[in-house]
Order: sequence, then structure tokens, then C-alpha cells
Amino acid sequence: MRRPVIAANWKMYKTHTEAQLFIEGLRNRLQSKDYERVEIVVCPPFTSLRTVQTTIDGDDLEIALGAQDVHWEEEGAFTGEVSALMLEKLKVRFVIVGHSERRQFFGETDEAVNKKVKSALAHNLTPIVCVGESKEEREAETTEEKVRSQVQKALSGLKQEQVASLVIAYEPIWAIGTGLTASKEDAQQTIAFIRETVEARFPGAGSHVRIQYGGSVKPGNIAELMHQPDIDGALVGGASLDPEDFSLIVRYGE
Ligand code: PGA
Repeated sequence: MRRPVIAANWKMYKTHTEAQLFIEGLRNRLQSKDYERVEIVVCPPFTSLRTVQTTIDGDDLEIALGAQDVHWEEEGAFTGEVSALMLEKLKVRFVIVGHSERRQFFGETDEAVNKKVKSALAHNLTPIVCVGESKEEREAETTEEKVRSQVQKALSGLKQEQVASLVIAYEPIWAIGTGLTASKEDAQQTIAFIRETVEARFPGAGSHVRIQYGGSVKPGNIAELMHQPDIDGALVGGASLDPEDFSLIVRYGE
């Protein structure tokens, strides 16, 4: 019932020419059945959005364009920022919100995440809302408290059907870019907990909201993650920069 969604988060990598080469490389490696099984999303830096969009459109590829961040206002004196309206006009369909790197390095708060989610939804963008605990929080056994609080604050004030339509990415911070992956059991357990948290606040939305796992996803571990009943896809950083690795992940390692 929930269509898996596998998203490439390129972070601050690739010039626009490299981005175009990636899309061409990915196209050459995927078959039509790969696009049917999984919703594929590519989130380049802002500078490559236009190039990726024209390459996707030119070849009529079923790849959705995503951005890595958004401001909550439509326009204004906010030097350096980009709005959901601007992204919508560029045919962007997804936007990552609240990634741990933005929370850690750019002071993004739960309140800002909530405003960004609302603005994204108002402009027909599907937010990919990132949540996850630090190593210290996992060791202190406060993972559930942390992700519950992040989920509740990020989704505060939304309608049930809006929550049902969005994507949540569970990304334990200690697993991002470290080569350490949460075990499939731990990932499943926390993602099932997030689903219960959503259902408790927004009855009916829990069974619809898609929840990804993120943190050192690779061709070698995607299959076991995707076989978990509550894991609906992956948010992939490092391994999404190479078209060969990313195509293998889209195909669950096969
Ligand atoms: P990683 O990053 O796959 O390199 O661990 C995931 C992410 O930050 O979204």
C-alpha cells in the first residue's frame, strides 16, 4: 500500500555538469520495472536543480526532483534563502526538512522545521522530515523520547491528510556518514515507534505516512532494511553520489 521512496541526498556535492552526468549514468542503469517498484527522488544542491530537472524532463524519466532545504516565507529580505514557491516553479516535488546537519551546523530548531513543513505543503512539495537521536541519546536510552518530540513538533498544527501525504526519514545521527548502520531490528523498532507516534496524534495517518531509514545505506545493506515491515525506503547520502551504487540501492542491492 505504501510505495517505497528512495531519495538521494547529495549534500554539498556535484557541480551542475557533474549532476547532469549522474542522471545520464543512472538512466543507463535503470529499467522500467525499477521505476515502477520505487519512487526515485534526487536532491541536488540548489545550483543543480534546473539542470537535473531539464535532464529528467528531456528524457521523460520518472525521477522526482527534490531540494535539500527551504525557507518558510514565500519571499522577503532573507539573503541566501530559497522559498517553496521558487522550488515549486522549478518543478521540485520533494524537500528535505530538518536534516541533522542543518540542525547541528545551522541552528535549525523544531519550530523552524515546523514552519518549513507547512510552507512546503502549501506549495505542493512533499516534505521529507528528518528525525533521529545522537550517540549520547542512544546510550542514555532516550531515543524514543527524542524522536517522539521531534515528530510531534515538526508536525504540529497539520491536518491528518497532510501528515498522511508526507515522508519522515529516521536518521540516527551516529549512523550518518560514519559507515555505521543501525541494525535492521533497531531501525524497524524505532520506525514502528514513529508510526505509532504519528497515529496517536493523527488517527488514520500512521498507516499511510512513509518512513525511510537513513544513515550509511549502501548496496550491501539496503535489502535487509527494505524487508522490514515498517521501513518504506531510504534517504541516502554518500552512496547516492555514484550512479552505480545508487542504482543498486534502487534495486535493493540486486
Ligand atoms: P549517509 O547520509 O548515507 O552518507 O550516511 C545520509 C543522510 O545524511 O541523509
